Amino acid sequence: MSDKIKVTIDGIPVEVAPGTTILNAARQIGGDIVPPAMCYYSKLEGSGGKCRTCLVKVSKGSEKDPRPMPKLIASCRTTVMDGMEVQNITSPEVLEARKGVVEMLLINHPLDCPVCDQAGECHLQDLAFDHGSQATRYEFDRRTFDKIDIGDKIQLHMTRCILCYRCVFVADQITNTRLHGILNRGDHSEISTYISKAVDNDFSGNVIDVCPVGALTDKTFRFKNRVWFTKPVEAHCECDKCSGKVTLWYKGDEVLRVTGRKDTYGEVADFICNTCRFDKKATSDWVIEGPTKVARTSVINSNHYDTLQPLPVIKKNLVLMAANKVEFEKAVKH
Ligand code: SF4
Ligand code: FES
Repeated sequence: MSDKIKVTIDGIPVEVAPGTTILNAARQIGGDIVPPAMCYYSKLEGSGGKCRTCLVKVSKGSEKDPRPMPKLIASCRTTVMDGMEVQNITSPEVLEARKGVVEMLLINHPLDCPVCDQAGECHLQDLAFDHGSQATRYEFDRRTFDKIDIGDKIQLHMTRCILCYRCVFVADQITNTRLHGILNRGDHSEISTYISKAVDNDFSGNVIDVCPVGALTDKTFRFKNRVWFTKPVEAHCECDKCSGKVTLWYKGDEVLRVTGRKDTYGEVADFICNTCRFDKKATSDWVIEGPTKVARTSVINSNHYDTLQPLPVIKKNLVLMAANKVEFEKAVKH
């Protein structure tokens, strides 16, 4: 007997291990039917259940009890049952609710994308693009905060925070000191470092990578460039603290920033140490593997492949030259 559980999401069946959440079952199918997730992060234990962007409709509870669930549920926190049927993009009710969630997240979040370093790779920006309304109904003052430096390399712009708790989980689970958390309740909640104590352990920079918006930014990269003018390249180095597997973001020949490698869902494969992130900004520090695969629809992908005038970093590296040729041919065919 198979120990797998069968679940159908938007009419597509999939067999998954018991204990799998609806969100992760959807990720096993992939594509448009995967609910968006602003707070869940598979690498962080206990994450999820905060933002409600992943709401879905369970139209059939299970084979044994086929009654639908009375309310929309958070797919990142609900495990599948055998025979369960779930609706995401096929449910107008879910799409309407998601619109409401986006409106709620944008109540306080400023629309300062033109000056925000996260623009172009911000999950809230993508979510608002897909599910947002053109205008807000909110008439009260938005909450605002002064910017806070968390150590000398990270800046917290609390005004942009959506309280997803991911950075708190990083501080808790990846680092060995707990100096970072959420203070107060409701509208007064804010990320704090009890208070302004620097998070100065070797892995603190990962809070930048997990933040889905521009609330936590890399001070060594702030205002240096728009992400779509940079060229992401996979590279590695021998590191005694982390895997040393990173993405280098080039402008011309200069490495403007170093981040962990992210997957389709914007989650890093391996958390990297602060030395790799902040201190190795020369090409000679790295072994270059090739260009990062970015979704074709992403703005980060624009204008990268050109055989006549390839970007300077491509001209100097054989691996990148070969990859550029392949990608250029693909781009021309599309
Ligand atoms: S600072 Fe970023 S990662 Fe931390 S809770 Fe706010 S939005 Fe989430
Ligand atoms: S991703 Fe499920 S509640 Fe945030």
